[in-house]
Amino acid sequence: MRTMMLLLLTAAILSAQEKETKVSFSKDVMPVFVKKCLNCHNTEDESPSGLYLDNYKELMRGDSRHGPVVLPRKGAESVLVKKLLGTTDFGRPMPRGRKPLEPETIEMITRWIDQGAKNN
Ligand code: HEC
Repeated sequence: MRTMMLLLLTAAILSAQEKETKVSFSKDVMPVFVKKCLNCHNTEDESPSGLYLDNYKELMRGDSRHGPVVLPRKGAESVLVKKLLGTTDFGRPMPRGRKPLEPETIEMITRWIDQGAKNN
């Protein structure tokens, strides 16, 4: 019984640590934008929404009409995350016209915002 409890405790601690893993903008988040979003949200072609995802600065500047799409430390409230979940009250879910991102990918982006949305 005691061994069982210890095992459970260790598993809980390990998974808590995993949740805390630092997310990197350049290594983790940006590659998702490159693969799934840049064909529409890039500065070369005019982005239909006025939101450019070419780099950190553009992302943080947000969209021309709705303002910032990233609210540091408030992942769940950020328009970026809501768009990926399809829960905004305007427009379509992102990536538009394609299948949604994997839940783990959305969770990773949410975690990056919750960790302060740093240019790391
Ligand atoms: C096929 C083109 C296309 C792709 C691919 C696409 N978007 Fe969009 N995006 C749009 C259009 C058009 C709008 C404006 C209309 C709307 O809100 O649905 C928009 C709007 C948005 C907005 C809201 C901006 C605002 O505040 O008004 C966010 C955030 C966003 N996209 C993020 C993403 C992310 C992240 C990806 C990649 C996972 C992505 N988009 C992929 C076309 C696209």
